[in-house]
Amino acid sequence: MGTNTSKKIATAKIDTREIPTPCYILDEAAFQHNLEILDSVQERTGCKILLALKGFAAFGLFPLIRQHLSGVAASSIDEARLGFEEFGGEVHVSAPAYREEEFDLLLKYADHLIFNSFSQWDRFRPKIEEGWEGSKTVRWGIRVNPEHREVKVPIYDPCSPYSRLGTTLKNFKDKVGNDDADRDSHLAGISGLHFHNLCELGADSLQRTLAVFEEKFGKYLDRMEWVNFGGGHHITRPGYDLDLLCDIINEFKERHPLEVYLEPGEAVALNAGVLVASVLDIVENGMEIAILDTSAAAHMPDVLEMPYRPEVLGAGKPGEHPHTYRLGGMTCLAGDVIGDYSFHEPLKVGDRIVFLDMAHYTMVKNNTFNGMRLPTIAIRDLAGDIRTVRKFEYEDYKNRLS
Ligand SMILES: Cc1ncc(COP(=O)(O)O)c(C=O)c1O
Repeated sequence: MGTNTSKKIATAKIDTREIPTPCYILDEAAFQHNLEILDSVQERTGCKILLALKGFAAFGLFPLIRQHLSGVAASSIDEARLGFEEFGGEVHVSAPAYREEEFDLLLKYADHLIFNSFSQWDRFRPKIEEGWEGSKTVRWGIRVNPEHREVKVPIYDPCSPYSRLGTTLKNFKDKVGNDDADRDSHLAGISGLHFHNLCELGADSLQRTLAVFEEKFGKYLDRMEWVNFGGGHHITRPGYDLDLLCDIINEFKERHPLEVYLEPGEAVALNAGVLVASVLDIVENGMEIAILDTSAAAHMPDVLEMPYRPEVLGAGKPGEHPHTYRLGGMTCLAGDVIGDYSFHEPLKVGDRIVFLDMAHYTMVKNNTFNGMRLPTIAIRDLAGDIRTVRKFEYEDYKNRLS
């Protein structure tokens, strides 16, 4: 793959002057490009890839995505329902804990349900064994924590010290005991193991994680039917080592003939959408500051949380081009700043600013802080036509409150 192929697809030929802002434009051609890469992994390995709804859940794109992926990975009852009703296919649910009053409804939507701990499994198991409505068709799994660190940013590292995410080997062993009889009783009904340890990482990170996972939990795999390698695989990033990923999965399947699932979110929507905003004002305070009709805090929260500096179409680093500006948002938060960028021409009120790679972890995380209206969502179809699929109103803000 050439570098940044999908970014070129996402931004080519979009005339942003007519777009009412702020607006996300999701590019079907770029999604298709990502999905074909994911398809090639499924074909070469026989693994199944699920869309992690936590990363991308704009269901207007589901008709395209479901032609390629097997189903969804959901983290809550509402994501599970969206997957069940709008996507179809398999619905895998995994959350740090489940509420008892939601559980029977969850079983209506889920076909795979993963427990974060043996205490959760033990809590729900008697009812499942009694034949809880819907529970017979569900495959049950346990999330394990391999305690192997690959992610550098602590809040995104599921294997950081004191992590609540997944059962550690010590807790696993304490629970299932050492002899077959103990194991049979505690793992009876469990058909899969799940781990999630990556964030925007390459196949080499999976290779190291999998080695530790097998060393620690390999002896339990012969009684399993499936294993889920979680998300965080940056499979569609230019330069990602697809051959290595396929070798890892194929070799794993030779050692353990199990069904393998991956559940990426970001890789499905990577470089597949932009956020178009407008300049509302330009002020000066030691530097030129452009105030936009968007917000880092409300419309691109990962910019502040991760933190990172999104790319802007046609702009460079500060000082790279003649005119440098700080791009700031509309909320009261002093730190509602997207970053410093330079442009070839001076900015003026009404200019469009196009933020790249804005399809994932934006719409699913946005908020209405300061009453900020959520950006419109539009889809650019394969023919290049842009259609608005969702506009937000005052009622969307009010409905979150009472
Ligand atoms: C359990 C689990 N699965 C899948 C994902 C999706 O990760 P990504 O969007 O980075 O591929 C996450 C992200 O946090 C996760 O926690």
